[in-house]
Amino acid sequence: MSDPEIFGELDHPARLLMGPGPINVHPRVLRAMSVQLLGQFDPEFTAYMNQTMVLYRQVFQTQNRWTFLIDGTSRAAIEASLVSVLAPGDDVVILNAGRFGLLLSEIADRCGARITLVEAPWGEVIAPEAVEAAVARVKPRLVACVHGDTSTTMAQPIEDIGRICKAHGALLYVDATATLGGMPVPVDAWGADIVTAGLQKCMGGPPGSAPITISDAAAEHIFSRRHVERGIATAGATGSGVRIGSNYFDLAMVMDYWSEKRLNHHTEAASMLFAARECARVAMEEGLAVRFARHALAGAAMTAGVKAMGLGVYGDPAHKMDNVTGILAPAGVDYDRVRARMRTEFEIEIGSAFGPLAGKLWRIGTMGVNARKDAVLTTLAAFEAVLRNEGFGFTGGAGVDAAMAVFASAAA
Ligand SMILES: Cc1ncc(COP(=O)(O)O)c(C=O)c1O
Repeated sequence: MSDPEIFGELDHPARLLMGPGPINVHPRVLRAMSVQLLGQFDPEFTAYMNQTMVLYRQVFQTQNRWTFLIDGTSRAAIEASLVSVLAPGDDVVILNAGRFGLLLSEIADRCGARITLVEAPWGEVIAPEAVEAAVARVKPRLVACVHGDTSTTMAQPIEDIGRICKAHGALLYVDATATLGGMPVPVDAWGADIVTAGLQKCMGGPPGSAPITISDAAAEHIFSRRHVERGIATAGATGSGVRIGSNYFDLAMVMDYWSEKRLNHHTEAASMLFAARECARVAMEEGLAVRFARHALAGAAMTAGVKAMGLGVYGDPAHKMDNVTGILAPAGVDYDRVRARMRTEFEIEIGSAFGPLAGKLWRIGTMGVNARKDAVLTTLAAFEAVLRNEGFGFTGGAGVDAAMAVFASAAA
């Protein structure tokens, strides 16, 4: 037998993660993840589950009873939402103006839903009139959209979409993965029925747990499709609606698990629950308004900095997300080498881009713990140095100065 391959302990540098997520995890969240486990039906553990529900109601600004966690990355909660609402043949209207709008249609397609897309070019948002026309024509069960699409850095205004859905009796799903905890996500004021997120962006946690909130109206529809797993069903417990096409992502069963019934489904990912709970505690201690202002300021400073360096900022400025900035790579500069040098010479990660923007756009996030002055200034200083070494721009500190001026005027 050959010698076992064991490898070294994890020992990488403490890199500054300034991409569009994941970002550096808040130290308190890392500590919470190292706490010893409890059994999943231990009363202390179920109390933590209930506290997590209370905390996320506040983060989502909702009264929704059904506010809990899906185990998995943000995409897990997206998939759970769509597969639990959409039965084969159901109509869904999807707003698509970026990679994550397309992800919604990819998942809805796998649910066997009939999809109507309302689209805008990347870098823009979708006009409510176009959504209203499609919803009035199709009368869908569900309208699905993305709040902040990190692929384009655009934030879709949701208020009008909520109003349209109410007027036409459609449920509204919103992917707020990239904005929860960094920009307002007022679920009840929006009139949204299901909103999902993740931890690894503005919530300042690791990927692997996806907060979700569900209105009573959406929950009623999902429960109409409840079919309790045979191994744990008692007589008469199964439902009559079309069975949800996934076991792991069956929200009716997951809600039964998070309810007083504690009907066993998966084993709750305890360390991720500890992380999610701590992320929400940190957010609520800071206060949502303060937190949103901190993200907006860091994003504004980053934007001012890259503009002062003579670089173009991508997309419609009226709808730019506060927490991600898309920077157009100037002609003649080696796109990949700039990112690589940021990492190898400065230990700073910045993001690349997808689809039509691949090789053209760098994306810099200012999220969670990294939405702070020194992280913005350090990133800009390094970016300026790398670009200058790559032959672009001889603005000598203009980016850092412009960002400092934004922070100074906010402090004044
Ligand atoms: C808007 C949006 N939705 C969904 C996702 C998918 O998230 P995850 O990779 O956590 O599954 C992302 C990730 O970048 C995102 O930005």
